[in-house]
Amino acid sequence: MKKTIAMAIVLVFGFASMAMAGGFDKCAACHNGKTSPDKAAILAKFKTADAMIKAAKDSKNPMMAAVKTNEADLKAAAADLGLK
Ligand code: HEC
Repeated sequence: MKKTIAMAIVLVFGFASMAMAGGFDKCAACHNGKTSPDKAAILAKFKTADAMIKAAKDSKNPMMAAVKTNEADLKAAAADLGLK
């Protein structure tokens, strides 16, 4: 029972944060360390916004297809990550 309530809370907050998604939040659904590299892994690999955006555009993974063409989202995510 406790578990169910905890799950419900996680879900509600999950959807709420998706609705207000900005910056890296838009990426975090996939970039969670399971499906693809999480925030820390991306920060460890890329030192500049340009490098990160270039890698995102170069990604051959079909899951990145929708993101790749959205330069504004990539830039917002880079800024959110603190990359310059
Ligand atoms: C629908 C899921 C999904 C979303 C949303 C998504 N990505 Fe990805 N992304 C992936 C997957 C899967 C990969 C391939 C991971 C791998 O190669 O290990 C990837 C790869 C990348 C890479 C290349 C990583 C590398 O090591 O070369 C970058 C950079 C990246 N994504 C940035 C972003 C950013 C920034 C956003 C948000 C604007 C975003 N992604 C949104 C799924 C997603």
